[in-house]
Amino acid sequence: MAVITSIEDLKRLYRRRVPKMFYDYCESGSWTEQTFRENSSDFDDIYLRQRVAVDMTNRTTRTKMIGQDVAMPVALAPVGLTGMQSADGEIKAARAAEKFGVPFTLSTMSVCSIEDVAAHTSAPFWFQLYVMRDQDYLRRLIQRAKDAKCSALVLTLDLQILGQRHKDLKNGLSVPPKPTPANILNLSTKWRWGKDMLGTKRRTFGNIVGHAKGVESLTSLMHWTAEQFDPRLDWQKVEEIRDLWGGKLILKGIMEPEDATMAAKIGADAIVVSNHGGRQLDGALSSIRALDPILQAVGDQVEVHLDSGIRSGQDVLKAVAMGATGTYIGRAFIYGLGAMGEAGVTRALEIIHKELDVSMAFCGHRDINAVSRDILRVPQDFSGRWA
Ligand code: GLV
Repeated sequence: MAVITSIEDLKRLYRRRVPKMFYDYCESGSWTEQTFRENSSDFDDIYLRQRVAVDMTNRTTRTKMIGQDVAMPVALAPVGLTGMQSADGEIKAARAAEKFGVPFTLSTMSVCSIEDVAAHTSAPFWFQLYVMRDQDYLRRLIQRAKDAKCSALVLTLDLQILGQRHKDLKNGLSVPPKPTPANILNLSTKWRWGKDMLGTKRRTFGNIVGHAKGVESLTSLMHWTAEQFDPRLDWQKVEEIRDLWGGKLILKGIMEPEDATMAAKIGADAIVVSNHGGRQLDGALSSIRALDPILQAVGDQVEVHLDSGIRSGQDVLKAVAMGATGTYIGRAFIYGLGAMGEAGVTRALEIIHKELDVSMAFCGHRDINAVSRDILRVPQDFSGRWA
């Protein structure tokens, strides 16, 4: 195998090794995918200022997110179906994150359950919550996250109904895949994936099956979302969840200053500027363009994080220099996971860390906490002058 030096290398290997339906699930945005594309390409409009003759010894990327120590300002984002990208994928990713010293966020729509991940890790992880119609199940889910000693609840606010990703419909996405001729043909070329998957019992939505009343089998994210997610979610409900949880609360999916102001008002510990990786509202601004107005509105009241579009350490550096306290990677770690399991997630983290560390030094800094906007050249109208 060629030497892996970049996230792109991991992506290429991932594409070869994982069934098409799960690659497509990860690598899709909604509808035209404009927002999905611009989440990444808009980082290219921001330039870094090279400084010289500055001592580069003793560098550090260590900092804090919601008061917790992190080896770099990067958390693993919640990604549904992670345990379909690689057998026991959530456990593998959580272990890699723990060893590296960054937070892991477990999705409600994960394959390994909260209890499973807790049993196979020792660092506390974060739990991402979707609000369900079934109040009893919702309360129990929050209690399960408490019992597992999760150290933050990441409440997703931008997915009460699902944006359409064409490929998922065309591929008949399901967990596990159905034995259709097309799937059998594709799976026959993914022997490593298949062997590992046969070796685990975790092949369904572990937080749901056997926990939600009457759900003995569940294969479709789309059906579950349509039937069970609560489309009535409003700020009052967010407050109820805040009170039920009682711990650190991160509100994810904030793209506008008005919503950021509400989130700050109800006492969130952090907000995540996010458009769900371009998977929900196609035509929304990229997260990096949405960041600045939000920082101006609430930057002194609540921690502001960012996800969607981060594929490199340079992207992390740009987001942090703009003013984000932390960032999240989703696809970038999934590429590693699908390519090489736990070692691939570690590799993705190492690649991003090195890119961040060395680029920070080239910009004249030794401590990520001292990095500020003066290392950037941002176009004057980057966040737009909208009529
Ligand atoms: C679920 O969170 C998805 O974006 O598919």
